Amino acid sequence: MKKPATIGMLALALVTGSVLAQTMLPKLAVKKTYKVGFAQTESNNPWRLAETKSMQDEAKKLGYQLVYTDAAGSTAKQVADVRSMIAQKVDAIFLPPREDKPLAPVVAEARKAGIPVILIDRNIDPKLSKAGTDYVTFIGSNFIMQGQRVADWLVKNAGGKTNIIELEGTTGSSPANDRKKGFDDVIAKNPKFKIVASQTGDFSRDKGRQVAETLLQAHPEANVIYAHNDEMAIGAVSALQAAGKTPGKDVLVLSIDGGKEAVQMVVDGKINYVVESNPRFGPVAFKTLQDYAAGKKFPAKVVLSDRDYNPENAKEGLPGAY
Ligand code: AHR
Repeated sequence: MKKPATIGMLALALVTGSVLAQTMLPKLAVKKTYKVGFAQTESNNPWRLAETKSMQDEAKKLGYQLVYTDAAGSTAKQVADVRSMIAQKVDAIFLPPREDKPLAPVVAEARKAGIPVILIDRNIDPKLSKAGTDYVTFIGSNFIMQGQRVADWLVKNAGGKTNIIELEGTTGSSPANDRKKGFDDVIAKNPKFKIVASQTGDFSRDKGRQVAETLLQAHPEANVIYAHNDEMAIGAVSALQAAGKTPGKDVLVLSIDGGKEAVQMVVDGKINYVVESNPRFGPVAFKTLQDYAAGKKFPAKVVLSDRDYNPENAKEGLPGAY
């Protein structure tokens, strides 16, 4: 299998993966300015806010009109938001599909309406929608690798703690599917570790706290919590404190995202390890749009690089966290 091309956050690196024919995709004219849609999934956490700000800042810098919508955690609303952008005849659409299946039909509708779609952050089920045919490319992190990195850290640093509660992200979303796969596959190869419970916390702090409370009661032997994002990890820290346990010591807490609040918790010893999921899409997303208009071909995936935060580097990394 070919490795996806990798890019830094501010500049496109040379594409080394195979590029796609893109024969079915709508053309985008080279213009001084564009009217571009950005159909956000929700705005309930620092990661989403950082992503939105990055997109808005870049559009403003370039003098483009950004048609912004917030689906407020409703996949049905996100579908309607994309349809509204098609009706408004935007030049192109940036889409982070909240779930990996229900957005496939509107991506096809945009293509039929002559509007190129660039997927950012979350992906669509490749059985339903194809890069180079239905949409231009997917720009985002390698979520499988994020889960693998968390598991690799745990295997090396567990100190005898082996009973894991997994707090999953939004059911049916590509980061929840892939962060689970990446983590669980590594754990399955290390038989002394056991996932004692795995349940969705919907990427939400409050839901993560509630689910962690319930699962900690049902599994008093649990001594590791792996959360698919910072919000649920922060919720789990509250649940542990409420249960009279010391997060980071009695129970290891592991997370993905790398927002300031979670990185501060690594500094404070309440969270043990965080793999970043970089939300700063603006520069690379708009550069991709310009390059697409200029006729450049893209691979199916353009992968962003993510750093990580551990007890040794968190203090130094904190100022750079979003
Ligand atoms: O798609 C990325 C995930 O979605 C982030 O980890 C999470 O915080 C967000 O809501």
